[in-house]
Amino acid sequence: MLIGLLKEGDSENRVALLPEMVSALSQRKVTVYIETGAGESALATDAAYKDAGATIASREEVLAKTDFLIGIHPPDKSLVESFRKEQIWLSQYNPLWNTDLVNQFVSKKMTTFSMDMIPRSTRGQSMDVLSSQATVAGYKAVLDAANLLPTFFPMFMTAAGTIRPATVLVLGAGVAGLQAIATAKRLGAQVQAFDVRSAVKEEVMSLGAKFVEVEGAKEDAAAGGYAVEQTEEFKQKQQQAINNHAAKANVVICTAQIPGRKAPLLLPEDAVAAMKPGAVIIDLAASTGGNCALSQDNETVVKHGVTIIGQSNYPSLLPADASKMFGKNILNFLELLFNEEGAFSLNFDDVIIKGTCITHEGAIINERVQAVIHS
Ligand code: NAI
Repeated sequence: MLIGLLKEGDSENRVALLPEMVSALSQRKVTVYIETGAGESALATDAAYKDAGATIASREEVLAKTDFLIGIHPPDKSLVESFRKEQIWLSQYNPLWNTDLVNQFVSKKMTTFSMDMIPRSTRGQSMDVLSSQATVAGYKAVLDAANLLPTFFPMFMTAAGTIRPATVLVLGAGVAGLQAIATAKRLGAQVQAFDVRSAVKEEVMSLGAKFVEVEGAKEDAAAGGYAVEQTEEFKQKQQQAINNHAAKANVVICTAQIPGRKAPLLLPEDAVAAMKPGAVIIDLAASTGGNCALSQDNETVVKHGVTIIGQSNYPSLLPADASKMFGKNILNFLELLFNEEGAFSLNFDDVIIKGTCITHEGAIINERVQAVIHS
């Protein structure tokens, strides 16, 4: 089987497979075609891909010759129209939101995989692109905030006086949130974190941060480590606690999400208006509506003296290591699909394959996507 890698759009610096992954695939007798310049912005040259065993080709040639196309972002409508029925597509394509794209794949009878649907299990961890890329985002978000803040992060006791450490509030302590906490702690800030899942309290505390407690959160063990929708009463108590902490914070990093839903609103305008002048909010959830009422996707706005950043692709700003992590996740997943001899097989008894395969032979395979589309 021939794998094809297309160059991502101009706003993306990452690449889905680096030469080191191509080399591992070549050892499995899988041939890879790379579109000219696909890895350039992640510092992977065509020559390095060639040395790893890839064939460098034009976009048209990659599309015409390969059986299995791999990317980071979802393909646009016209690209899907150019695919052949027997071609397989794999990327992160958010099928719980992009239902039109799912329907387009169904009508083309294509087999497609969405890497953001890898089940969050111990076995799935090494393939979990959401986790690896959220790690990058949590780290970069804090660096961005530290750069913009008019004050220091760490405490300083100098001859010129004592500087108090910055206070960072992290909303949502999942993968991005925990990395944001760890990074802010390393920079010397005082960190507080809030999450509706009490299970994360110990992790937050083990990173040296304070856990903001709000009693009465609804949890569901069957939600696979994800949060569930909360009651109105809890939301009111939660809002009060967040407002109080945000008013004292220099930085708020927003990372709260419930998969497949609009991001929960945790910082309404009055909470922002009560924050310190010069404070910074980084809203990682901006692409799904944002945790902050004032954030705008991929924009920086200043309101009530607070800078609100809605950067939705931090991983692209750390392209070399983000690609390394993304590519390793893909490679681990491909190892479930290709045997040592390079033969492809789809084993739907494997929960990881079943959970990640969205469409196949004109039907929707993933049950969560089925439920969203048929509701
Ligand atoms: P995650 O699912 O691991 O963590 C989200 C956390 O939010 C969970 O711990 C959950 O319990 C918590 N949460 C849900 N509802 C809440 C509420 N009402 N109040 C407080 N906490 C709540 O997600 P992950 O992987 O950490 O991603 C976080 C966000 O960052 C997502 O919106 C994701 O799309 C986004 N992201 C943004 C990137 C960027 O460059 N801007 C890159 C990667 C991810």
